[in-house]
Amino acid sequence: MNRLLIITACVFGLFACKNETHQSKNIIERSAKQYGVLVRSAYAENKVPRSTDEHGEVEWARRKMDWTQGFFPGACWKLYENTKDPKWKDAAMHFQNLFVEVKDIATTHDLGFMFYCSFGEGYKLTKNEEFKQVVIDASNALMKRFDPKVGCIKSWDFGKEKWTYPVIIDNMLNLEMLFEASILTGDDKYKKVAISHANKTLEHHFREDYSTWHVVDYNPIDGSVTKKLTHQGYGDETSWARGQGWALYGYTMCYRYTKDPRYLEQAKKVATLIHKHLPEDFVPVWDFDVKDPKNQYRDASAACVYASALVELYQFTNDQEHKLLAENIIASLSSDKYFSAYKDNQGFLLKHSVGNWPRDSEIDVSLNYADYYFLEAVTRIQKL
Ligand code: GLY
Repeated sequence: MNRLLIITACVFGLFACKNETHQSKNIIERSAKQYGVLVRSAYAENKVPRSTDEHGEVEWARRKMDWTQGFFPGACWKLYENTKDPKWKDAAMHFQNLFVEVKDIATTHDLGFMFYCSFGEGYKLTKNEEFKQVVIDASNALMKRFDPKVGCIKSWDFGKEKWTYPVIIDNMLNLEMLFEASILTGDDKYKKVAISHANKTLEHHFREDYSTWHVVDYNPIDGSVTKKLTHQGYGDETSWARGQGWALYGYTMCYRYTKDPRYLEQAKKVATLIHKHLPEDFVPVWDFDVKDPKNQYRDASAACVYASALVELYQFTNDQEHKLLAENIIASLSSDKYFSAYKDNQGFLLKHSVGNWPRDSEIDVSLNYADYYFLEAVTRIQKL
């Protein structure tokens, strides 16, 4: 009897796996077809597509030092990884080269987003030595923003009237490039900075319910915290949806490199908090604490970050809840409600993201980082 049960469970398991793989393949095929539209106009414009605007037209990255520059070539790398079609490799290389000249400029913490999601992803797939050098150069620039008195990398240079040494939760994502730089160079100094930043953030960025503030401002003279506030959330004390995603992704990724159990614990707690706040279609309202949430915009980009992080978290926890939640999010994002019809939306994959609500910027639009993390989530789940 027991043997029969085990065999039945195995057959069901295999069937579920095959079904998932089939669905992921289908999503990748649709994505590659849709991105064929976007990449054509990107070549014509010779710029990186960042988002759609309020009229549904493509908004191109305007500055070389735009934090979203790496995601479009990164999405092309994901498509190359999945399809092995060299046209995606060519596109990834072409578009990452459009901004490579800013790799040494240390005016923002976003270097990790920009250079690890592009050149870093490319290096993993091709072992191209030039890509490796770009990752190391960008890491050296990012290291210049670390102050040992604070123990964190400073996020922004702008906004001097509001803060002195701002550190935002998004900054956790830039640590991945530093962990990799230590592996690539054999020099621990990058990893040490990443760990210091992760530990300080663990200490100061989280509330008792494991939600995170967006910005923590430090006093660079003695490293103390001076204030906690928001920049992209609804209010200083609310939980900005994408920020909770950066926390989940950040601590899951830090656990991958360090195996520090505190990071895994934090990621699990943040996952529970996020789960509690998801509506029936698993795509969050752009801030968990907005008034009248039923009538507020959803942020698909936050859902994409959650899904990708949850697949990785599941690999460490083996907790079916994490896997099921990732699957539900991906299924919802792949439905007509969120996934663009072929050729619609200028070729972007996903609709309904929010970039920066308080600044009235990129509301209910497509965003290149939503597409990037969506493709990463699908790629990760397919590999399970
Ligand atoms: N790192 C900026 C954002 O999440 O909008």
